[in-house]
Amino acid sequence: MNIHLTKSQIGLDGVPAAETVLSHVDGERGELIIAGEHVGRLASQSSFEGVTARLWNGASKSGLSEANVRASLGVARERAFARLPDLLPATHGMGIVDGFRAAVAGLRAENGIEHEATIVGAFPVIAGALVRQAKGLPPVAPDPNASHAADTLRMLRGAAPEPREVAALDAYFVTVCDHGMNASTFTTRVVASTQADLFAAVTAGYCALTGPLHGGAPEPVLEMLDAIGSSERIRPWVDAALARGERLMGFGHRVYRVRDPRADVLKAAIERLSAEGADLPFAGEVEAYIRSALRRKNPDRPLETNVEFFTAILLDALAIPRQAFTPVFAMARAAGWTAHAREQQRTGRLIRPSSSYVGAMPE
Ligand code: ACO
Repeated sequence: MNIHLTKSQIGLDGVPAAETVLSHVDGERGELIIAGEHVGRLASQSSFEGVTARLWNGASKSGLSEANVRASLGVARERAFARLPDLLPATHGMGIVDGFRAAVAGLRAENGIEHEATIVGAFPVIAGALVRQAKGLPPVAPDPNASHAADTLRMLRGAAPEPREVAALDAYFVTVCDHGMNASTFTTRVVASTQADLFAAVTAGYCALTGPLHGGAPEPVLEMLDAIGSSERIRPWVDAALARGERLMGFGHRVYRVRDPRADVLKAAIERLSAEGADLPFAGEVEAYIRSALRRKNPDRPLETNVEFFTAILLDALAIPRQAFTPVFAMARAAGWTAHAREQQRTGRLIRPSSSYVGAMPE
């Protein structure tokens, strides 16, 4: 009794909690494999619909093609749009991150569509409506024939995107669609392990994503870049923040001991998108100084750039409002969450760990 756990034990560091065919993170080598392929190759060769087909096929032993997924997501976006009058009232008075949670909690099965597609298809429709609602504008109807990335940008911005913008968002979606047993995926699997349905599991996953230690980091990354403002201010700003004991958003990772491979994939996507709207040289200077400052602060614990640093720059360059960054992350990760929920349900095994009681005992 009264056995205190270490910090690593409390965080379940390195504890395998599932067998999965969906993705693999090698934190020592800085590698991410999604559905049998390296993330860099997937981002340059596959569309979001293509990688989603791979994930869903892996989890459910189905034989979906990229075209099947594209068609079912198009139908699902249209159905979600028709349901907006039911979903949006629950978001009243909320910001975009919280409103998204409330609307997602209202999703339910749609006749004739797999739950996976209902969920992934609804996410950009809801996020687009919330972004427009915040500006006092009506939602933009989806185009079921467009790609998921193209339609997402159109619904968020109310104007047709350029092909290079669609390519950048598609590369982002592919890059972050799944990532081993991260906190939101674990949450999703815990809920799915009770045999609750996919809607409950994914709503819980989104809630876990919203925290700044997980998917809520990109908005603060931009706030940090804004607060630093200029090259001369990088050093004093970063040194002062670290002296106050603050964590710098977009750096450090529980698993990676080297640079997060997704950071480079996204950096390349930003370069292809062109420098317009993305102040890459300044962000690069900030990144370089923070990495060196973190090496000095924690010489024994490698703290490298993670995916969220370049996510912030990429989504900002696409003129997506920063308040919508976490829902946009969720749009991609929903492909992984739904696959993991199915994979977990198939095991039939309830996830139910134990705890170490350190409280008082009865006299
Ligand atoms: N800035 C400053 N110091 C940091 C940072 C950071 N970003 N990250 C970790 N540290 C420090 C910790 O304070 C700790 O210091 P201490 O030993 O003096 O107390 C030390 O490094 C070791 O940290 P760990 O406990 O090993 O880190 P952990 O595995 O718990 O953290 C995490 C991982 C949560 C991502 C952390 O690095 C962090 O808070 N980063 C900033 C937020 C962020 O970028 N989140 C997005 C993550 S990526 C994703 O989820 C999609």
